[in-house]
Amino acid sequence: MSISSAAWWRTAVIYQIYVRSFADGNGDGVGDIAGIRSRLPYLAELGVDAIWITPWYASPMADGGYDVADFRAIAPEFGTLAEAEAMIAEAHEHGLRVILDIVPNHTSDEHAWFRDALASDPDSAERERYWFRPGRGPDGALPPNDWRSVFGGPAWTRLLDDEGVPEDWYLHLFAPEQPDLNWSNPEVHREFEDILRFWFDRGVDGFRIDVAHGLDKHAALPDIGLDEEELLAEPDIADHPHWDRDGVHEIYRDWRRVADSYADSPQGPRVFVAEAWVRTATNRLARYLRPDELHTAFNFDFLKCAWDAAQLRASVDHNLRTLGEVGAAPTWVLSNHDVIRHVTRYGRDTDDIQRPAGTVPTDLTLGTVRARAAALLMLALPGGAYVYQGDELGLAEVEDLPLDSLQDPIWERSGHRVRGRDGCRVPLPWTGDAPALGFGAAAPWLPQPTEWKQQTVEVQTDDPTSMLALYREALRVRRSLPDLAGDELRWQAHGEDVLAFDRGTEFRCVVNLGAEPVEVPADAEVLLASAPLADGVLRSDVAVWLRIRK
Ligand code: GLC
Repeated sequence: MSISSAAWWRTAVIYQIYVRSFADGNGDGVGDIAGIRSRLPYLAELGVDAIWITPWYASPMADGGYDVADFRAIAPEFGTLAEAEAMIAEAHEHGLRVILDIVPNHTSDEHAWFRDALASDPDSAERERYWFRPGRGPDGALPPNDWRSVFGGPAWTRLLDDEGVPEDWYLHLFAPEQPDLNWSNPEVHREFEDILRFWFDRGVDGFRIDVAHGLDKHAALPDIGLDEEELLAEPDIADHPHWDRDGVHEIYRDWRRVADSYADSPQGPRVFVAEAWVRTATNRLARYLRPDELHTAFNFDFLKCAWDAAQLRASVDHNLRTLGEVGAAPTWVLSNHDVIRHVTRYGRDTDDIQRPAGTVPTDLTLGTVRARAAALLMLALPGGAYVYQGDELGLAEVEDLPLDSLQDPIWERSGHRVRGRDGCRVPLPWTGDAPALGFGAAAPWLPQPTEWKQQTVEVQTDDPTSMLALYREALRVRRSLPDLAGDELRWQAHGEDVLAFDRGTEFRCVVNLGAEPVEVPADAEVLLASAPLADGVLRSDVAVWLRIRK
């Protein structure tokens, strides 16, 4: 297979590899690069166009690698730089593009810059790379402002000097082990452009930008002035002092210039995808995708919808319209390493889909039926799509992990009130019924449910009715149909609870989210169905791809 051309990202299906949980090649219970290399044939056969690898850099792993100590080195538990280079080349040989994850909002507290900052004076240039500030109140005992960490608690931690005397505070919008970088400092800009080039020079096709909406902070670091609950609920306020500020766009224009400088390389242009949780129902996301900025962004709006035709239709329309205005390709995503897996979400009552794992009842049979339909819906929409590892196996959230196995910093930071995201990060089941289900030779870093032995890649490969078979077939059909290459979508009237749309000259997707059966037109050819059709009708929660003869 060969790497296809020009604007490949506009329609690409990108498979997310959460490194620690994908495949363990060296038998230490943690996924690694050797594991990824051994499974590249599986991914090529699945039929995806690219892989996105979550951070594999040197890291103390306080936040699963999103606390980077050295962006130019590989974490020893994952492998070496030479192995990373070999993996990139092998992926290309398999026809797979490679996207890495870059984390520009913060570093690890073990990054050389942060260590230097701690060892330097309060007014030093070393400290200017981060946000250090004196506290408020008597003796500076209160944090410099009211900002909260996304993981719970204040967004500030106070330093102690060598004698244990308290001094300045430093900002961390995530864990205390993730100090925020100061993007008003030109040195930070230079450093990250250099990191981009370091990996582009090694053949990487693009970057997923972590917390892309957080880099620019209001210079005065003003209070937000909301109570704790409102602060944590993605506040919908204009001119927010640290989310989605206009200043971030300058950064991405510079990054675009770096990516475009590779346009003439044999491999072609390099691309970006933004992780930007911006206000929904605005055109804020599209601002990141103006022609001289980033190429694509995750569409979390779609992921947050309940299994509800009106919500999904509105989300599709909103994204096609706002992104179309700037000429950007939409992307669709159902799950990732930060959210509850969609088999579980769709198995819950509509009002409960965002509730923390383990707190509400779930019907996994229903969730699985809907997840099959959702896969066909997502893969029929114009633009690109993301598949999170295990989606193709129909894995559900693991809601009952033993408490002493939890590693997500949210668990500690919430005072053991919120379990966090480990339930969607459980290592994949590949083969057999042995303890690690083919993940590796040792017990995995999070225990796998025993019933996953029914959901291994091996079991599903031999079962034409499996989720894996559905994904493989959907990806094969998607690639083979010229009708699915375009940008447009035409809704067909089919009742409130049905999503039906045409693309190209003869493709139609119909998804029945209602209780009433829906008839398939008699002269339509069924290309693919998420469940067997009974007497030419779509039952509740079934999706179908049709060739319509006109
Ligand atoms: C992003 C990542 C998440 C991480 C956070 C802090 O949201 O997807 O896993 O915890 O950024 O880097």
